[in-house]
Amino acid sequence: MNSKSSFLSVEDWDRQLCRQAEWLRPHRFLQYRHAGLVHAKSVLDLGCGTGRITVECSEKTSAQVTGLDFDPRKLEFARSLPGRIKWVEGSAFDLPFPDESFDIVLCHYVLLWLEDRERALSEVRRVLAPGGCFLILCEPDYNAAIEEPDLGIVDLYRKSLLREGADLSCGRKLPGMLSGAGMKGRVGVVNFSWEPDFWHRELKAEQDLRRKTWKDLVSPQKMEELFKKEEDSLDKGERFFWLPMFYALAKKKQ
Ligand SMILES: C[S@@+](CC[C@H](N)C(=O)[O-])C[C@H]1O[C@@H](n2cnc3c(N)ncnc32)[C@H](O)[C@@H]1O
Repeated sequence: MNSKSSFLSVEDWDRQLCRQAEWLRPHRFLQYRHAGLVHAKSVLDLGCGTGRITVECSEKTSAQVTGLDFDPRKLEFARSLPGRIKWVEGSAFDLPFPDESFDIVLCHYVLLWLEDRERALSEVRRVLAPGGCFLILCEPDYNAAIEEPDLGIVDLYRKSLLREGADLSCGRKLPGMLSGAGMKGRVGVVNFSWEPDFWHRELKAEQDLRRKTWKDLVSPQKMEELFKKEEDSLDKGERFFWLPMFYALAKKKQ
């Protein structure tokens, strides 16, 4: 969901971003260690949204943490969160910071939404200090998602995200993006194991979100039929769903 989504309130957004943040927390904590977050002096969370990941980072470092987003409504929400964070309204394409001003730039679930990623990555490179880290925490690749049985749910996610401007193959493009920006590093896919209990817990919230964001893609009746089939296949133990989440850790040359 991009900020262009007219279907969601800021509170809806925050609920969803909190859920997403919950799913991959152990993975992120490991990446924070690899990036040396604890030793950093200045950190930028690019596309910080309602600020949940920004606050998490600031709790793990004594660095000055800055959260930047171009959506004033989300930033207003973020400003109400506790912490000594600098919140900045601005664009990823024209970062309002001097050259070499951050030890770490991180982003979480953001690159898939950027219309001009080349420009954003060149800005990231500019504001990173020599030897600084660019930490890409989570970029999905919806075109590689798998569902079994195929109920058409992945297809509806794709349709809904596509019309909001997402790049459905963003994850797999991380190596090319980094090398295009003159940065070297490693790219990976977050480890995954299917846990039916997790889906039983998440399903209601996920279906509530779909009711809002898919409402003109499928009739309410069809949608409820689909959800019933999904619940049945989960109860029967035959359901599988996987959305690959890519991550990367790259360095700017000294
Ligand atoms: C899916 S949200 C992720 C928010 C946050 N990183 C998180 O994971 O909780 C993507 C965010 O990127 C922001 N965004 C998209 N394009 C942007 C741009 N060109 N400049 C700044 N922010 C942008 C949106 O406003 C939105 O808050």
